[in-house]
Amino acid sequence: MTKDSERLLTTARGGKAKTGPFNNPLDFIAEDHMREREVCALIDKLVTASSTKSAERKMIVEFLTEQLPLHLADEEIDLFPMMLERCDPEEEIKELIEKLEADHGHALADAPAIAALIEVNKTSDTGFSEKACARMIDFAGHARRHLILENAIILPIARVRLTEDDLETMRNHMRERRLDHHKEKTK
Ligand SMILES: [Fe+2]
Repeated sequence: MTKDSERLLTTARGGKAKTGPFNNPLDFIAEDHMREREVCALIDKLVTASSTKSAERKMIVEFLTEQLPLHLADEEIDLFPMMLERCDPEEEIKELIEKLEADHGHALADAPAIAALIEVNKTSDTGFSEKACARMIDFAGHARRHLILENAIILPIARVRLTEDDLETMRNHMRERRLDHHKEKTK
């Protein structure tokens, strides 16, 4: 099981979790954002540094192929529709969410290719082609701009607008999503 799944399952388990830091699924999403920023910094390092640790490469690949798709699903299937339901039209959140969903489409399409590029070079320090570097820089740049919007606008509004029931539903879906993913992987 990945660390991510363990993290959610541990914190989502039983009444004790109610006092835990991830009782609120929005905190879990915020932590995913922090990890995504770390991964972007590692991608930058990969492009500019002459050598990187294989553990860092592994972390990037694992994030892009395992955690990112789950995170994007958390937002698209739960967070964004709940925001649309809870926010007033004059808050103009719809246009922003449409933009973020379009970003997600690009990220989902590009992440496997970026992971594959890194996977190929996983154990060597031969470096990347200019084209590969440009692609990785582009990916990290888009991800950062996307994160700024989600952290600065979406999450603060979500914390005010979403109800306790919304958060409970989101938490349950996030847990089910990770359990299903784990089952699928271990089939
Ligand atoms: Fe996000």
